[in-house]
Amino acid sequence: MTKQIHLNGFIQNSPSPHSMGLWKHEKDQGVNHNHLSYWTETAKILERGKFDAMFIADVLGTYSVYGNSHEAAAQHAVQLPAHDPLSPISAMAAVTEHLGFAPTISATYAQPYALARQLSTLDHLTEGRVAWNVVTSYLESEAVNLGLSGRLPKELRYDRADEFLEVVYKLWEHSWKDDAVVYDRETDTFAHPEKVRLIKHEGEFFNVPGPHLVEPSPQRTPVLFQAGASPKGRNFAAKHAEAVFTKNHSLDALKAYVADIRKRTQEQGRYPEDVLIFPMILPIIGSTEEEAYTKYEDLTNHVSYEGTASLLSGHTGIDFSQYDPDQYIENIETEAVQGNLDMYTKDPNKKWTLREAIKNHGLGNGTVKFIGTPEQIADRIEEWAIESDVDGFNIAQTYSPETFREFVDFVVPELQKRGIYRTEYEGKTLRENMFGKGRTHLPRNHPARNLGSLQSN
Ligand SMILES: Cc1cc2nc3c(=O)[nH]c(=O)nc-3n(C[C@H](O)[C@H](O)[C@H](O)COP(=O)(O)O)c2cc1C
Repeated sequence: MTKQIHLNGFIQNSPSPHSMGLWKHEKDQGVNHNHLSYWTETAKILERGKFDAMFIADVLGTYSVYGNSHEAAAQHAVQLPAHDPLSPISAMAAVTEHLGFAPTISATYAQPYALARQLSTLDHLTEGRVAWNVVTSYLESEAVNLGLSGRLPKELRYDRADEFLEVVYKLWEHSWKDDAVVYDRETDTFAHPEKVRLIKHEGEFFNVPGPHLVEPSPQRTPVLFQAGASPKGRNFAAKHAEAVFTKNHSLDALKAYVADIRKRTQEQGRYPEDVLIFPMILPIIGSTEEEAYTKYEDLTNHVSYEGTASLLSGHTGIDFSQYDPDQYIENIETEAVQGNLDMYTKDPNKKWTLREAIKNHGLGNGTVKFIGTPEQIADRIEEWAIESDVDGFNIAQTYSPETFREFVDFVVPELQKRGIYRTEYEGKTLRENMFGKGRTHLPRNHPARNLGSLQSN
């Protein structure tokens, strides 16, 4: 059978979150992110395009590495305002039937007991269409606003996240038995009390006796997304994730990443196909190639230099206000996002100056741009999918949601014509649409299902 690809739509509850300054573009609606209609319309577009899910990025702080201040971020709307990612989901679920929703929540700052309840509630309300993008957070401004004196070291963040997941797995998979709830009026029994079990978690970071506050939801554990790029982050993803997200600007870099993730996944005792891999791409579509490149120039002219410098400073942990624009970016071990720095310091094809990196990073967070006619973009999607063995793509935006609309109207039909993309959803829940009908729950070889003394349901 021809390889089938999957699509996700990348967004955030913020104006032009991944293309700095594009809120100024006449086609942008991202400034309406504080209206429900923006979200419901965007969800309907993605569902019309048969996307698996809307991937909602999030940060809980400001980009204030640049000049040691949040001011550039505030002036240029660098993921600021940053509204809550969970709030629009119920409204979007009400106007869609199949689209999944993948909010980002930090395992460094949330509490597992409360987060398990939030996501289980949403999994009920969406009838099994929720994922969770598990992040460990990279901004110092998040730490200091959330009760810490500073950002935890990356190693410790991942150790904490590992135990965090153990706790939520216990709550989601092992607290309530499948047949706990009976709603039996005759015997005055809503749920069999002995089937609503304590989890008695005692660990290094968390003590959670339980039980879980929510009866089992359709998927129990939401689909697990992850996007760590450091070695520790990749091991974490290989152990827990069902979908990993990456950002590259070359096919070679992507191939190396895919081979590495598949190898690490197997080392964790899982099948390579248990983890779907989604590189991010930014489509820039024209009716002719020339029109597409003219459009690219226009979009580039809307990019804010200072806004992008502020974004890149937050992403890499380097204060670029101290840099000359023609200075080369040097590699360091960063406590921020290693992958973002590696893009500009470990490129075998070129050394990047700050000015060049900013030009690249300003659109789609620096990811690869597929520029051309719908046919040319479909060609590249096909080439990348086959050559690198990825499972699909995470579509970034310039202006929102018009980038999604153009992609759905022009590229999706081309992918469908080639037989590499679905024309109907396969299942009801998000996990089924990602892995196949009948797979609503985590597979038995996932660590969530195998937690020692706690019996699996
Ligand atoms: C496509 C993509 C999306 C991401 N979205 C978020 C996000 O919304 N919030 C966040 O805090 N980190 C986000 N990250 C960052 C990572 O998930 C991870 O926390 C970060 O890369 C730091 O860990 P690392 O050094 O292991 O990569 C994203 C990364 C990628 C590649």
